[in-house]
Amino acid sequence: MSIIISGSGLYTPEQSINNKELVESYNLYVDSFNKKYKQDIQKGSIEALVHSNEEFIKKVSGIENRYVLDKEGILDPERMRPSLKERTNDQPSIQAEIAVKACLQAMENANKQATDIDAVICACANLQRAYPAVAIEIQNLLGIEGYAYDMNVACSSSTFGIQNAVSDLNSGLARSILVVSPEICSGHLNFKDRDGHFIFGDVCTALVLERQEELERGNFRIVDTKLKTVFSNNIRNNFGFLNKSEDSDLSSPDKLFIQEGKKVFKQVVPIVSSIIQEQLEDNGLSINSISRLWLHQANLNMNLLIAKRLLGRDPESKEMPIVLNEYANTSSAGSIIAFHKYHEDLNKGDIGVICSFGAGYSVGSLIVEKI
Ligand code: COA
Repeated sequence: MSIIISGSGLYTPEQSINNKELVESYNLYVDSFNKKYKQDIQKGSIEALVHSNEEFIKKVSGIENRYVLDKEGILDPERMRPSLKERTNDQPSIQAEIAVKACLQAMENANKQATDIDAVICACANLQRAYPAVAIEIQNLLGIEGYAYDMNVACSSSTFGIQNAVSDLNSGLARSILVVSPEICSGHLNFKDRDGHFIFGDVCTALVLERQEELERGNFRIVDTKLKTVFSNNIRNNFGFLNKSEDSDLSSPDKLFIQEGKKVFKQVVPIVSSIIQEQLEDNGLSINSISRLWLHQANLNMNLLIAKRLLGRDPESKEMPIVLNEYANTSSAGSIIAFHKYHEDLNKGDIGVICSFGAGYSVGSLIVEKI
């Protein structure tokens, strides 16, 4: 018996923001802030803000564009955050709504009906509410029997979710499971922060995983999974259910995404490359036998460095697909978008690695084989 990925789905929001639009809006915000606090800035009690820059963003990150659920609110220099309408309890939540779209596509690609699926794991970096679990709402909207639960391991949520699905399938708890990652990253990005206002985009990915006795061609068999976590405060968000009880300031920047980008870059690259290397060795595979690296999509230079450490040379673009130029960092969905868009040309027996990494620190790595 094997566990396979039999279908993938991708929901991409209709609206997008390119770097030029983002920087123009940020710079208007800066000008208005500096004008408003002109006297304090002159006295030295407030520091003047500095313009952002399109070339800088592309050079340090590789990001050129991002999809978002609401462009207008983000680009409004008076608002600088998405404008999303609160829904009633009788309406589908925003996360469940986009999740259903990605799930339906994954189910269609896997040739599965709701009655074939036994569980839904909603694995993403931010959940819209405390409870009921968003996964149970998705399960209900899709008409799936069985069970569903939410989980969050930040940017590694999707691969950790797949590991959970593999365990549930191996134990016989389920025959077929949806792992869905509705990542609404614009909701926790500080668009007023010059260091990071360009980082994230919104998206939702979904995968169908199933037990299979007789392997059907065209799918991907999961050969091995490996998880690793190492505590770090270098990517952090202090938003949480105790904020009110602690009388903490809900508008403070620490209630949104904060990172020490340079430290993250330096510390995470060696962790990820050594984990992939170890995993390949443990499975008797050499890096030369790997046809594709579907890596987490946070930073182009980071991915190039990880691939170079593994391969001993620069990767060819086909070997390591990049989607962050178009999608930006979409947290745990990034490596799955890359897999979804760039797997069909692989041949029977080709082996690839899906690896996500991020806050925690956390790394989830999967070796898959085309069957
Ligand atoms: N426009 C122009 N200049 C900017 C800028 C902007 N938007 N933001 C920062 N700068 C300036 C800084 O002030 C700094 O200037 P200085 O050298 O005079 O002090 C310089 O550019 C370098 O800034 P820095 O933040 O150190 O850039 P970086 O090369 O580290 O790139 C990241 C920043 C965030 C793109 C990069 O560190 C990164 O992607 N790290 C990994 C993050 C990651 O993977 N996170 C996981 C999240 S899930």
